[in-house]
Amino acid sequence: MINIIQSWWNKNKAQKLPVPTLSKDNIPRHVAIIMDGNGRWANRRGLPRIVGHQTGMKAVKRAALAADEIGIEYLTMYAFSTENWKRPKDEVDFLMRLPEEFLAMELEELIEKNVRIQMMGHPEELPSHTIAAMEEAMRRTENNTGLVLNFALNYGSRREIKETFKEAAEALASGALTPADITEEWIGEHLYHTALPDPDLLIRTGGELRLSNFMLWQLAYSELWFTDLYWPEFGRDQLAQAVAEYQRRTRRYGGLS
Ligand code: FPP
Repeated sequence: MINIIQSWWNKNKAQKLPVPTLSKDNIPRHVAIIMDGNGRWANRRGLPRIVGHQTGMKAVKRAALAADEIGIEYLTMYAFSTENWKRPKDEVDFLMRLPEEFLAMELEELIEKNVRIQMMGHPEELPSHTIAAMEEAMRRTENNTGLVLNFALNYGSRREIKETFKEAAEALASGALTPADITEEWIGEHLYHTALPDPDLLIRTGGELRLSNFMLWQLAYSELWFTDLYWPEFGRDQLAQAVAEYQRRTRRYGGLS
């Protein structure tokens, strides 16, 4: 009972925090989000889990528009992990339809707002309809210069690192590289998404305090911000709170401030 009251209090406290004023000088360039809690949000309401995902899709739009307004340059959303294939087929099928549904509804507005859509992950295992929708969105927004909205789809960080190891091993075996060429920069550039800077801020909703195989290399020095709110409840105010907290922190990268 105490847990239930505590959880209710935490959620309400988080929702009612005043919207902070942000300093324009210290906006995180790249924010990455683990969107967790769709299923529990739906369960709490006696609804099927997929309703949570559907509602979560609306929060994706809110987060993207808010990120753009705040001045964030890159927003990476963890939409489907290499481990999410273990879920029931119906749920996986539903999740695989969401990118095209989202893009059918929102692409025109995102184009108007100069947003560029990107994707990181393994396209080869995704259904053709999912890939077709993503490819069309990437093609139509490739010259946009505003917010980069990067979807992690069929993404797994260990697999990403493993593939980079393989690439290095092949290059070493063929003589294209020497061991001295394998630097941190080389590795960073050979992960899936070389064009993105490392995230400055990681947000995870849903109350769990873990990284779930997400951007393990790239998050080495990111600031972490967790909230008990479920993903469908996330919006501009929570993004602003996370950025405000980021602005209060001192990033030392192992050195002294
Ligand atoms: C985790 O919550 C969420 C996911 C695995 C899917 C996230 C997807 C969306 C928010 C929609 C994506 C939209 C687009 C446009 C690609 P969970 O299901 O694990 O929640 P639970 O921990 O409460 O069960």
